[in-house]
Amino acid sequence: MLDLRLNKLITNNIINDYEKQVQIINRMIMEKTGAGNDFLGWVDWPVNYDKDELKRIKEDAKYVRDNFDILVVCGIGGSYLGARSALEALNGLKSQDKLEIIFMGQTFSPNYVAQVMEYLKGKNFAINVISKSGTTTETSISFRLLKELLEKQVGKEKARKAIFATTDKEKGALKTLATNEGYKTYVLPGNIGGRYSVFTAVGSFPLACAGIDVEAMLNGAKQAREEIQSQPLSINKCYQYAVMRDYMYRHNKPVEMYVTYEPQMSQISEWLKQLFGESEGKEHKGLYPSSATFSTDLHSLGQYVQDGTPLLFETIINVLNPKDDIVIPHDEDDLDGLNYLEGKNLAFVNQKAFEGTLQAHEDGGVPCNVIYLDKLDAYNLGFLFYFFMRACAMSAYMLEINPFNQPGVEVYKKNMFHLLGKKGY
Ligand code: PA5
Repeated sequence: MLDLRLNKLITNNIINDYEKQVQIINRMIMEKTGAGNDFLGWVDWPVNYDKDELKRIKEDAKYVRDNFDILVVCGIGGSYLGARSALEALNGLKSQDKLEIIFMGQTFSPNYVAQVMEYLKGKNFAINVISKSGTTTETSISFRLLKELLEKQVGKEKARKAIFATTDKEKGALKTLATNEGYKTYVLPGNIGGRYSVFTAVGSFPLACAGIDVEAMLNGAKQAREEIQSQPLSINKCYQYAVMRDYMYRHNKPVEMYVTYEPQMSQISEWLKQLFGESEGKEHKGLYPSSATFSTDLHSLGQYVQDGTPLLFETIINVLNPKDDIVIPHDEDDLDGLNYLEGKNLAFVNQKAFEGTLQAHEDGGVPCNVIYLDKLDAYNLGFLFYFFMRACAMSAYMLEINPFNQPGVEVYKKNMFHLLGKKGY
């Protein structure tokens, strides 16, 4: 299901050296005694999740699928990336599903927002607005626009039944608005931060609307949790991955590049960049998370990875059995010289590209780690998300960083609010 091959610098002796530290931190995570411990609700969520809420989510998702053509998911950062990455990874980039999902609220871009609004005119859409704080400006502006359009198109009463809000249980501007308007609401628990929230309603409502088996995702996460917290480091892939990251960081490899060979997984890399970047990048510490989609980016970044400043290592997520595949046809004239590949699947070619690149980069001195998945389904993706969340907490604690706050994000907001003329700034 999930397998890990670490780069060649990571010997058994190195892993053994970390054993005690890993044990202590694992206990800290389980017993919730480390920094930011009031944000560790995600650790046991795959077991303790609100079963009644999930039942409601599945019923409401059916209502959305039966009654609307489009669901607009309105959120940013942790209130957006989990759902988007899972949706694209599982349903593909050209989904034929009867419910179209559109993301908004993740940008101030006048072009993007105006284009989506224009596209929605006259269409039968519902909205899932997601914000824990309820005050995130990108999301709030988009939601104001969407709500106004929907109310204009179907009237206030019908609009109320087409808006679903995911927010804090009792506080915040969105909670107040949702209560006043009578929207259906789901909870982002107070003890779970945005980037650790993919298994809560933040992810599960839009994903259930998209027809994805959210219980299978939770089961994958549950299995990962059981393995990770009980296995010794000698066989614990999640914590071995965290050890590798720490070792790289301390040995002049400050950049981790997440690599996939599937464009529909590129949003998983975005989710990873937020998870690790926002959790670890503090006090002038932390690996810089970057990403590439091969083989596409071998024709742009490939040169740098092979021969440029030797500052990065790769973590490649390799899915062995793609859901869809296609055979390369025979051509009578063979002017393109491709008949040597006739009858072969693209999956075969993609794997050979992976193997050839792995060898080239390793020969060029780039440490490469590979996470193998046999296939990308809801269960495996749930496993993978949880694997990375737990590895991230372990890695950040190894750096003596609180993984669950993001003080640096506020600085740009203060400047922006001042420039926008917001009261009090
Ligand atoms: O991980 C996080 O905490 C952040 O990325 C938040 O999810 C993001 O800033 C959106 O916040 P909110 O859900 O309050 O709108």
